[in-house]
Amino acid sequence: MNGNFKNIEIKSPNLAVDSNNSMIDTLLISSQDSTVNLGNKSYFKNINLLGNADKTKMFLNGNSENLTIDSKDNNIYINGKIKNLDIKANSVDSVIKINQNGIVQFLNAEVLVALKGSGIINKFHAEKRDYLQSDVKINEVFIVEDENAKNEVETLIKDLPKDLALDNKSNVDNARVAFDNLTIEQKALVRNDVLNSLENAEANIVELEIQEAKIIEVKRRAIEARQNAQNQQSTDVKKPTINQGGTKLVAFTFDDGPNSNVTNRIIDAFSNVGGHGTFFVLGNNVAKERNTITRIYENGHQIGNHSYNHKDLTTLNKADLDWQINTTNSEIQSIIGATPTIVRPTYGKVNNFVVNNVNYPLINWNIDTLDWKYRDSQSIFNIVMNNIHANSIVLFHDIYPTTASAIEILLPRLSEMGYQFVTIEQLAAYNGINLRSHNIYYSMN
Ligand code: NI
Repeated sequence: MNGNFKNIEIKSPNLAVDSNNSMIDTLLISSQDSTVNLGNKSYFKNINLLGNADKTKMFLNGNSENLTIDSKDNNIYINGKIKNLDIKANSVDSVIKINQNGIVQFLNAEVLVALKGSGIINKFHAEKRDYLQSDVKINEVFIVEDENAKNEVETLIKDLPKDLALDNKSNVDNARVAFDNLTIEQKALVRNDVLNSLENAEANIVELEIQEAKIIEVKRRAIEARQNAQNQQSTDVKKPTINQGGTKLVAFTFDDGPNSNVTNRIIDAFSNVGGHGTFFVLGNNVAKERNTITRIYENGHQIGNHSYNHKDLTTLNKADLDWQINTTNSEIQSIIGATPTIVRPTYGKVNNFVVNNVNYPLINWNIDTLDWKYRDSQSIFNIVMNNIHANSIVLFHDIYPTTASAIEILLPRLSEMGYQFVTIEQLAAYNGINLRSHNIYYSMN
């Protein structure tokens, strides 16, 4: 046939279309065993082989636009130029032969077909890598294979938080495995910023694991040192004092710290005379004073709870009170691996609500050095010397250098006078007092 045709549809089997000089807009083939022969000077815009168009034989010589194949067992011979060749899912067992002068500009394959001949495919777009078996020269390949997987990887990696907790390690590992499983082409398509965030996340994880290992080691050493210090204390306390006719024990207590500059001087002063004190720390100091907390504990001193941020406990509701006490205890626990068992109320202020709702013994004092007020080591020294007696609980604050200076002169002097410095728990134990929650202690007399 010759001429221009808008639409031709072949519905009956075994028909042949033979055209040599035709322009065809759309040729639909929906029956099997058809033969289509388009000669050199023919041009078509669309040829569609629909589901039933099995075993079609097609010879295409001219330059044309869209050929869509969606039926099986076809033999297509391409001798001219075709812009788009779409091989749909039903096109199994088809053979497409692209001869020497044949060019397919863009081939999209949803299934595997045999591509034979010595022609050229410019761009090959395949759903899967397997579909790429071909004798034909292919200039550019794009494999869709698991497009979802690629997207999933991008999402996985992108969603990784910037600073990861250790329990996100499995997410990072999954993202890495998914990325490693991508094809080379897909890897190239994963965006650089996305890949960078995976690499950062992996670096963070390694850093966190190192830190975690360090914390565990510090805790282990702290517990060991604590044990040694306690063993030492039990011999300290039983040791008779010099010429004083009996053991005079006092508990020095330090609030509002720790503060590395001051607290470390106090720890050193205790080490020099062989005694121990009690440090009532604030929860919000703990993280930044990690090393000082560890050192207090390792040296055998007692650590108590002085609320999280020094709120007046008598003004709080139950939830806020619990939060102040519990958060502080868990901050401390996270560093030394042990939980404080005593609480010092802020400002020494207590009421029935505080007594009833704090589930730890409340430890106040009977000697106030007023170190926070005068910030004067001589004044602190005088107050202590004028008031000290056995079983006292003395209040200091390990946040003032003047307090450390006072301690540095007080401890050797009192030690010479036969005093021994013990923790709150030791002072109670020595006096046979069983510290109980919902009770307030001012001294151990
Ligand atoms: Ni305080």
